[in-house]
Amino acid sequence: MSSNNPYNPTLVALDTPDLKQALKLAKNLASKVGGMKLGMEFFNANGPQAVRQITALGMPVFIDLKLSDIPNTVAAGITSLLPLEPFMLNIHILGGRAMMEAAVDAVNQAENLGYNRPLLIGVTIVTSMQDSDMQELGLVRNASDQVVHLAKLAQDCGLDGVVCSSHEIAAIKQVCGDEFKTIVPGIRPKGVSAHDQKRVMTPSEAIAQGADYLVIGRAITQASNPEAMADDIWRSVRHADL
Ligand code: C5P
Repeated sequence: MSSNNPYNPTLVALDTPDLKQALKLAKNLASKVGGMKLGMEFFNANGPQAVRQITALGMPVFIDLKLSDIPNTVAAGITSLLPLEPFMLNIHILGGRAMMEAAVDAVNQAENLGYNRPLLIGVTIVTSMQDSDMQELGLVRNASDQVVHLAKLAQDCGLDGVVCSSHEIAAIKQVCGDEFKTIVPGIRPKGVSAHDQKRVMTPSEAIAQGADYLVIGRAITQASNPEAMADDIWRSVRHADL
């Protein structure tokens, strides 16, 4: 997309079980971010009806449930999410080829069922894991090689992109090409605490690396002025050639 018509790449992680708080944040941030990410903390506490309340605000919603099960169950789980009209969904790549291909078939049915096709995103190796975890699981590659390997496999199965750390964007784009989407958590504007994230980047650094979407939680939701923080982030990335 050209810089004359930039899209806002920030997806705010509404990591709370409190529906009232999530709705307040979503309303206040609606014009300042690109969408909302709703994960299991929100979804398990409030259910599908609460997702509808967020989308009713006109917000694109990423439903981050990281599905993984036998192919038939994952495909059916995705079909059950389609009426919520998410613009993005995710599954674990480690669920394997048959599961990923079944998930792709399920999102490809969206338009036949009267819904927009969501982007289907793969979770590679969660960033809380490191090389010693790979060894313990019996995986032979180190964590960053494993991430690139899984991204390539996900692309081969028809997924639209992956969740990855900012430090893996360049290697993934090199192997999978620019069109393959990278969704990047662990983002901190300068001066904001890293909290429990190990390796962080600023929004503009991650965009410069090629990030397509930035998942940003506490840096916005716990700011003394979340709207002003979202505005600052948007200003810092909007002139990048997205
Ligand atoms: O508050 P913070 O910006 O660190 O939140 C990041 C969000 O991204 C959380 O919702 C977290 O679950 C999610 N996430 C992550 N690292 C991953 C995958 C998802 O931080 N590897």
